[in-house]
Formats: sequence, C-alpha cells, structure tokens
Amino acid sequence: MAVGAAAFEAQLLEAVTSSGLHVVRRCVDIADLISTAASRQADVAFVSAQLRGLDRDTLCRLAAEDVHVVGVTPEFSSADEAALRSLGVTVILPADSLAGLDEAVQAAVVDRQEPAPTDERGGTHQQDDWDVAVPRSRGRVLAVWGPTGAPGRSVVALGLASEFAALGASTTLVDCDVYGGSTAQLLGLLDEASGLLAAARSANNGQLTVELLSRQARAVTPKLRVLTGIPRADRWVEVRPRGIRDIVAASRDLSAFSVLDCGFSVELDEEISYDTAAPRRNGATVAALETADTVIVVGTADPVGLSRLVRAVAELKELLPRSSPVVVVNRMRPGLGWSDHDIVDTLTRAVGPSPVVFLPDDQAAVDGAVVHGRTLGEVAPGAKLTRALRTLAHDLAGVPPRSSRRSRRARV
Ligand SMILES: Nc1ncnc2c1ncn2[C@@H]1O[C@H](COP(=O)(O)OP(=O)(O)OP(=O)(O)O)[C@@H](O)[C@H]1O
Ligand SMILES: [Mg+2]
Repeated sequence: MAVGAAAFEAQLLEAVTSSGLHVVRRCVDIADLISTAASRQADVAFVSAQLRGLDRDTLCRLAAEDVHVVGVTPEFSSADEAALRSLGVTVILPADSLAGLDEAVQAAVVDRQEPAPTDERGGTHQQDDWDVAVPRSRGRVLAVWGPTGAPGRSVVALGLASEFAALGASTTLVDCDVYGGSTAQLLGLLDEASGLLAAARSANNGQLTVELLSRQARAVTPKLRVLTGIPRADRWVEVRPRGIRDIVAASRDLSAFSVLDCGFSVELDEEISYDTAAPRRNGATVAALETADTVIVVGTADPVGLSRLVRAVAELKELLPRSSPVVVVNRMRPGLGWSDHDIVDTLTRAVGPSPVVFLPDDQAAVDGAVVHGRTLGEVAPGAKLTRALRTLAHDLAGVPPRSSRRSRRARV
C-alpha cells in the first residue's frame, strides 16, 4: 500500500486484510514503493493520487516488476480519479465503496497495466503537410544514431530535418542525445530552456499532448520545429524510455516527419548493474531506436570510424533484428584511399547487406552553417554536402529523383 497522506488509509488497510490479502508493506514514499516492488514480494500495489511524486515512470517500474496497480480515490469521479487516469492507471477503487475491492484486484491482475500510450490521441496534420509521399496516415519517424567519436549524427539529423521541411512537410527534430544536446548550439538557440526536458516532464505527469509539444518544440522555420536537448550531460536521468516513447508518439501526430538525434550507445549494463530498477542512461536511446520506422546509422570513412561503424551496425542488428538500417558513411574524402565500393564490400562482409549512402567531407559548409546558427540549406544550398543530404532526404521521403542530383548511393 502506498497511498501517501490519504485519509482513507486505515479503512483501506482493514478492507484489504479482511479480504484475505496479505499486506507486505505500507510504503511511506515512492522510493519505498519501488524497492518493495523490486523485492518481488508484492503482486498488487494500492496507490493514491496523494502519493507524492507518483508518475508514469513509477508505473512503468511497477509494471517491470510485475506489480499490478489499483488506484484508490476518496470517491468516484473525483479529481484524484482524473489524475490517476491521466497517468495510465485503469483500475480505480473508490474508498467509499470498498466492497468492490476483490473485483478491482482481479481486474488489475487480468488487465496488466502499462501507462496508456499517447499514441491514440488525435492527429493534427494539415492536409498541406502531406504533399510529400508519406507511407502512413500519421507521421514518419527516423532515428539518426551511430557509434562514439562524433561521426556527424547531429549534422545529418539537422540536415535531413531541414531538407524534409524544405519539401513542404512539417518536421520536428527531437534532440534526444542523453550525452548532451547539440541542436541548440547548431541553431544558435542558446538561451532556450530545454524542450526535451519540458516534454519529458509533461510526459511523466501524463500531460503531454500534441498541442503542448507544439509549444515546447520551437519553430525555427515555417515547417521545421526543434525540441532542444539536455543542456548538461548529467540531466540524462530526467529522460526516461517511457517519456521518449510518449514524446515520439506526440511528435508523430504533430509532424509529417520526426527526426530523432540519438546518443551513441545502446549498452544497458544489465550484467554489471546490481540495481535493476535503477534508470539506465541508454534506455532512452534504445526506446528511440525501437519506436523509429527507419534507423540511420552514421559513421565516418576513416579506419577508426569505419571499424566503429561496422560494430555499431552489428550491435543494432542484435538489438533490433528486424530493422533494416540505412548506413551513412560521412566525411568521405579522396585522401582516405578507398572507394565507395571498397567500403560497401567491407560492410557487407562484416554485417550483411544494407543500403549505404556516402556524404562528402565539407568542412566549409558545416562551419558556415554553425557560425551563423542556420541550416546547411539556408547558408550553403549548393554545397556538395547539402546536395547529398537533400538527395538522401528525397530518397527517404519517396520523392522521385531529379536525375542529375542523385547522390552516390549504392544498394547492395
Ligand atoms: N560531412 C562533414 N564534413 C565536415 N565536417 C563534418 C561533417 N559532418 C560532421 N562534421 C563535423 O564533425 C563534428 C561532429 O559532428 P556532429 O556534432 O554532427 O557529430 P555527432 O555524431 O552528433 O557527435 P556528438 O557525439 O558530439 O553528438 C562537428 O564539428 C561537425 O562540424
Ligand atoms: Mg550530436
């Protein structure tokens, strides 16, 4: 039982014991509740809206420990009931009719509770957002990921997002790098509060809506919104997998394209973590990759970058066996001494066939964009990197190629 300061606690305790249930613990706070759940002694948790800090993350952690949740409110149809339902508690027991306790427990056990996904909320697309081929009625989600060593995930994510927007499709770039955001720096939005942290907080309280996300994600051009990332690496604890899933679901309804700029690692340290209920830093990245329709793996063309890229693609295929990632080899330059064909060959031998796209090294264009805090398309529309990113965006969006503009793309 974890009902906070609710006046009905004694009454509830009596009803629970007299119905033959064994009360393992009366928890004083969320930490107490989580550790009791982790001890695997309890099957059901009775919670109330008056338990301070009760949120969707807590409910996820209870679900992960196979603890079923019954929400208890002072009476039916109260504000407490609405609060619990907004967090995703579906079985509610009013304290003024505790005769229904057995049925409530049965219902909670049968109907295993997960915080309700935000996916079912209505979409807000305008018809004019859909002048680009989008293969589903809701928006499409692309995750840009890659190994350590700053291979250019953020440059690629922003480049793709701005090219989707340039096609006339509403686009949201979500900076969900748990090792520190960089989208705000790339766009000169340094005085902004983090959009991601605001959205994660709203999601955790069960309050995130498409309308709210549209305010938290700052509009930088008429079709491009940006949800800026975490300002300091130590804020990663506030970005939980469930929150990322909710944010992506809302973003899917907000925009024709959502581009997720992801952190580099997907290791979950399961074997070395003693505290399995502790939040895991890379859990948010894994959630982003799992919810994306397309994963783009970015690596660099130099020897170190390429071997990391091979390992990253192998790791991704292990994590998501059914995904077919698009591999982007960034910063290609003649001095490296190998051709597109050599690289495709190496990748195919190591990790099997995948679509591979090459982007040129173009320091002048990238520097010009970041110095002005603008996108490559705004500052250097004709640069070779911008053109290659545009072609990739068109390919991903299903826009017919303009023959002279095709990027060097090899499908193996
Ligand atoms: N095609 C390119 N040509 C030249 N420079 C590039 C290119 N792509 C990325 N860069 C440069 O490489 C550096 C790293 O890029 P970026 O920040 O996009 O990497 P990242 O993978 O997101 O790294 P982080 O781990 O910091 O998030 C930046 O200085 C960027 O300007
Ligand atoms: Mg980055």
